[in-house]
Amino acid sequence: MRVRKARLPDADAIHALIRSLSYDGTLLPRSPAEIYENVRDFTVAEDDAGRFVGCGALHLYGPHLAEIRSIAVAPRAQKAGAGGLLVQALLEEASVHDVPCVCLFTRIPHFFERFGFAAVERATIPDKIYKDCANCPRLHACDEIAMARGPLPDTAVLGPAQVEERLVPLQVP
Ligand SMILES: CC(C)(COP(=O)(O)OP(=O)(O)OC[C@H]1O[C@@H](n2cnc3c(N)ncnc32)[C@H](O)[C@@H]1OP(=O)(O)O)[C@@H](O)C(=O)NCCC(=O)NCCS
Repeated sequence: MRVRKARLPDADAIHALIRSLSYDGTLLPRSPAEIYENVRDFTVAEDDAGRFVGCGALHLYGPHLAEIRSIAVAPRAQKAGAGGLLVQALLEEASVHDVPCVCLFTRIPHFFERFGFAAVERATIPDKIYKDCANCPRLHACDEIAMARGPLPDTAVLGPAQVEERLVPLQVP
């Protein structure tokens, strides 16, 4: 089992795996276009024969926060270490970017606790709320646990205040 950064030819396998786990809300659905556009966020896991077995993505909100998303291993390959390798690779990627806090939303908090994640109030990561939750049909019936690893951010880049700021013309010196 090994992990590597995804390449564009991996996108269809990534999409198929995420789609297979989206029907019951285990994963957020991602369209092919969204995966093509964000394929550089993804890391993939391969078995010893080089076959795709899983994926996970690291979304960068900014210097204050990143999020692990779309982490999944094909049922036939689960419990062989791929999920753990993916989490570790994505945490190393956050570290390469000097991002101190990594968050995620999950129904299986126990899986992530071993990597140092702890449950947090979802209001402590407003960027995630504005990116996904605000438009989610399950906004008021969400059964996912918000988790974070590292110091919680004291800033945000998404949301009404940030939109207003972007509308103010920049003063170029
Ligand atoms: C969660 C997932 C990525 C783990 O992948 P994996 O390759 O099986 O993980 P690993 O082999 O590295 O680790 C297996 C360990 O995780 C634990 N684990 C796996 N699924 C779990 C779950 N649903 N709840 C709690 N622990 C779980 C196993 O019990 C095992 O523990 P052990 O090492 O003490 O025996 C995989 O089960 C999966 O794709 N699940 C469906 C998609 C999903 O729920 N993704 C998470 C969305 S946030």
